[in-house]
Parts: sequence; C-alpha cells; structure tokens
Amino acid sequence: MEYTPARDDHGLPFSPFSACLVPRPIGWISTVSADGVPNLAPFSFFNGVGYAPPTVVVCPNGPHADGGEKDTPVNIAATGEFVVNVATLDLAEKLNVTGMAHPRQVDEFAAAGLTAAPSAVVRPPRVAESPIHLECRHLTTVLLPSWTAHPLRAVFGEVVRVHIDDRLVVDGRVSMERLRPLARLGYQDYCGLGQVFEMPLPEFDRLLRPDIPDENGAG
Ligand SMILES: Cc1cc2nc3c(=O)[nH]c(=O)nc-3n(C[C@H](O)[C@H](O)[C@H](O)COP(=O)(O)O)c2cc1C
Repeated sequence: MEYTPARDDHGLPFSPFSACLVPRPIGWISTVSADGVPNLAPFSFFNGVGYAPPTVVVCPNGPHADGGEKDTPVNIAATGEFVVNVATLDLAEKLNVTGMAHPRQVDEFAAAGLTAAPSAVVRPPRVAESPIHLECRHLTTVLLPSWTAHPLRAVFGEVVRVHIDDRLVVDGRVSMERLRPLARLGYQDYCGLGQVFEMPLPEFDRLLRPDIPDENGAG
C-alpha cells in the first residue's frame, strides 16, 4: 500500500505512521514546575542525537487535557532542566499511569507509586526504580509547523550527568539482558528486546577483495 499523510488516505482504522518507526525508545521525562511540583511523563518521540556532548531530543506534541501546552515542555522552558529515566519491562504498568492526562498539580511519581530520588546536578528528581538516569540541561526547543493548534516541539537537552545501576554492568558493558528495556511500537503496542547480536563494521579490504583469507578464519 501507499498513502499521502496530508490526505490521510491509508484506508486503515488507525494511522500506520508510528508502526513504521519501530521500536522506539521511551524517554520517561521528569521535570519540576516553576513552583516546585514534580512531573513525570513518557515520550516515545524521543532519541539521542549525538555523543559529544551527549545530547537527546524529546518531542511533546499536542495539548494538555486543559487545552494548554503539556507540563513537560512548560516545565523545561521554565527551569531549563529535565531527567531521562530509562523505561524497563518491569516498570511498564507504572509508566503507563504516568502517561495519563493528570491535572497539572498532580505529582505523577506519587500517582504511579514511584519513588523520587534526588538528582546530582539538576533539580528534577529521578525515578529511583529506573536503573539508568540521564540528567539534562535544556539546549534549545525547535517549533515545527503543525496541523493542529499546537506546534510540533523538538526539545533538545545536553546530558550532564549519567547514573547506571552497577548491577547492570557485566564485563565492562551495560547488559541488555539485565536492563530489559521497554520500547514502543505502533498503536498501543510495546515490546522488550528480541534477538541481540553483535556486528562489527566489515573491513574495506576484505569487502573489496573477498579472495583475501580472513586471519580470524571466519570466512
Ligand atoms: C509510551 C507512551 C509514549 C508517549 N509518547 C508521547 C510523545 O512522544 N509525545 C507526546 O506529546 N505525548 C506522548 N505520550 C503522551 C504523554 O505521555 C501524555 O500526554 C502525558 O500526559 C504528558 O504529560 P505532561 O503534561 O505531564 O507533560 C506518550 C504516552 C505513552 C504512554
């Protein structure tokens, strides 16, 4: 099938767009409001954009239930700080509670039964139950054209402090088997990890001259 997003002519009951970008990591973003109320919400339009410095982007789109902007971009604009808490399979149901349209004064840590742990260098607390946290400072927000009354926002942050639970580190690497990350698919579908495999880049010489024997005997 083919369709044109501007005409929404896919003929399916739901837009297949998010099912075409899978799996997506979930940025579980904690912030505080200008008057100090903690806030926590998941965003799957989220990713890293570079290493040096480590930088992430999160995209809050559409309205808050009261018709204004969502708490997350409002809080980031007001305070300049946020934390990315890595979502795991074990925390899926609690994460889902934090995605509900809570009134602005609700602390989603409390609503979901999660523990707020102080961060090292930013004000927003971390989700203590999450095994990895990225403390971030706001860099810039890009407002893109939108088909609704609310712009598409891309909020960029520099990672200034990283916390990794020591129990995740096996042989000097973050163990995916121990982390058990949660990812978002299309619709209301989620997944854990499937098969994990390692694949170093091929060497150019061997790619261009397959007749050269591989010193490792790997063929
Ligand atoms: C797994 C998951 C992923 C989500 N991803 C996004 C997203 O990328 N962008 C967005 O605007 N809302 C997303 N939402 C909805 C927000 O989490 C929801 O609107 C939330 O109430 C926003 O909270 P806030 O007003 O405290 O910022 C997602 C919800 C879930 C459960």
